[in-house]
Amino acid sequence: MKIRKAVIPAAGFGTRFLPFTKTTPKEMISIVDKPAIQYIIEEAVAAGIEEVLIVLSRGKEAIINHFDETPELDKILEDSGKEDLLKLSREAAHLAKIQYVRQGLAKGLGHAIYCAKSFVGEEPFVVLLPDDIVDSEVPAIAQLIETYKQYGGTVLGVQQVPREDLSKYGIIKGTPLDGTTLEIESMVEKPSASEAPSDYAVLGRYVLTPEIFEMIEKTPPGKGGEIQLTDSINRQIDQEKVYAKIFQGTRYDTGNKLGYLEATVNFGLKHAEVGKAFKEMLLKKDLE
Ligand code: G1P
Repeated sequence: MKIRKAVIPAAGFGTRFLPFTKTTPKEMISIVDKPAIQYIIEEAVAAGIEEVLIVLSRGKEAIINHFDETPELDKILEDSGKEDLLKLSREAAHLAKIQYVRQGLAKGLGHAIYCAKSFVGEEPFVVLLPDDIVDSEVPAIAQLIETYKQYGGTVLGVQQVPREDLSKYGIIKGTPLDGTTLEIESMVEKPSASEAPSDYAVLGRYVLTPEIFEMIEKTPPGKGGEIQLTDSINRQIDQEKVYAKIFQGTRYDTGNKLGYLEATVNFGLKHAEVGKAFKEMLLKKDLE
């Protein structure tokens, strides 16, 4: 079945970015000139996604406004002949069919995904976590969808991470099927380095089947007292095959300061308008 729908959980507080996140959604943080969440939706659209559901919480209205029409601004740009800026402004409003739902209580990623149950219906769907921005030739989520087409079932996007980072992620235990695919035997949310079953971490990209909702219903609170998506997927492994796709691309964790700065440098250097000048500026910096 063609995958048409994406769910983007954007309900977290973003405390790692205080004070910025006091009143501004962390997903609206700008990487060069575009909010982080727009990179994510562009990735989904490039992979053939037509409908997007963003799971919000209170205070995240700026996200809804960003993807809405802005007739007053557009008219000013149009009247002053600023066609290129008008294009940029309109693009965000016409990327995809975007809907919203609110997660009333911060009960974890599994619970946030559960808020998408009626949007998803009976179709397989993708989940993209907006903190994880991937710079790649083929969109990361498209690489997972290819694996889904080949093997079916649930597919999680993974990459190897250094030992000291294992406790930040869901870590899988799997058997290799081909060069870039593993069949998952089990997974664990944020284990200590000594308990981690491998160094393959789930990095914010998932193809899920609608059966996940039944699993989430049965999942008790786990790590941090939250309903963990990792625990629900772990339950699903008993019922159906779950795969890990080692996706190609450079992934940035824009949810932490250093990862965000790295992403900004990367996309800044590639930026059509300022990339060249930015490079010269960096080269001139005395970093000692
Ligand atoms: C979430 C998931 C975790 C995954 C990570 C990827 O954790 O729970 O399994 O590895 O995203 O970024 P969070 O970073 O929201 O705590």
